[in-house]
Amino acid sequence: MEWLHGTRVTWLGHSTVLVQTAKGTNILIDPFIEQNPKYPKGFELPEKIHYCLLTHGHGDHMADTVAIAGKHGATVVAIYELAAYVGSKGVSQTIGMNLGGTVLLEDVAATMVEAKHSAGVQDESGTHYVGVAAGFVLSVAGGPVLYHAGDTAVFGDMKLIADLYHPQLAMLPIGGHFTMGPREAAHAASLLSPKAILPLHYGTFPPLKGTPQELEKLVGTGVPVVQIQPGERI
Ligand code: NI
Ligand code: MN
Repeated sequence: MEWLHGTRVTWLGHSTVLVQTAKGTNILIDPFIEQNPKYPKGFELPEKIHYCLLTHGHGDHMADTVAIAGKHGATVVAIYELAAYVGSKGVSQTIGMNLGGTVLLEDVAATMVEAKHSAGVQDESGTHYVGVAAGFVLSVAGGPVLYHAGDTAVFGDMKLIADLYHPQLAMLPIGGHFTMGPREAAHAASLLSPKAILPLHYGTFPPLKGTPQELEKLVGTGVPVVQIQPGERI
C-alpha cells in the first residue's frame, strides 16, 4: 500500500502490532507475547524497540510490558495511572499521558483517543485502577496516519477521530464478546472512512468469534479488509 510511504505494520496476533517507520522508529503496541496463543512462533522483534504503547491494563494487552521494556530498552507510553503502575513494576522509562493529548515520539506524533471499555489491571494483590481504556492515533511524519482502537465498542465520536486526524489505516477489534464484533466494526469503518482496515482481537480465544470475512461482507467493496496471518506485515 503506497500510502504507507515505507512505514511497516506487522500484526503479531491478538492486538499486538509492531510499527516501524521509514526513519527507523520501532513502536510496539499492546505486547501480548508469552501467553498469546496466536503470537507467531520464533518471530524476532527488532533489537531496539523505542516505544511500547499500552491501550489499557488488561493482561492480553500488556502482559509482556516489563520484559519488553527491559530487553529492548523501550519507553512505555500509556495513560497516566497505567504508566505509573508499570513504573512501579520495574519499567524505568515511562511517559504518562491522557485522552486528547499528543506526545512526540521521534517522527511519530502519538495522540491518545477515547475507547469504550473497562481497564483495571489484575495482579497478585488484586485489581487496581489504572485509568481508562484508550486508543492511539499515530501520525508518522512524511508517512501515514494509523489508528489502533485498543479494546472498544463502536462509538459515535469515532467521527471526531476521523475529522481531526484522518486515519488511513484503522486497526479495529472485531472478535466480539469483550469488544465490538464485525457488525459494529463495519459501522466504525463508515465513521472513520479509512483506506484500509486491519482487524484485531479475533480468533485468539474461543469467545472471540468475529472473522475478517464477516467484516468484509458487511463493509462491502469500499474499504479493503487486510487479511494477514500473525507475523505478516502490510
Ligand atoms: Ni481489554
Ligand atoms: Mn482485550
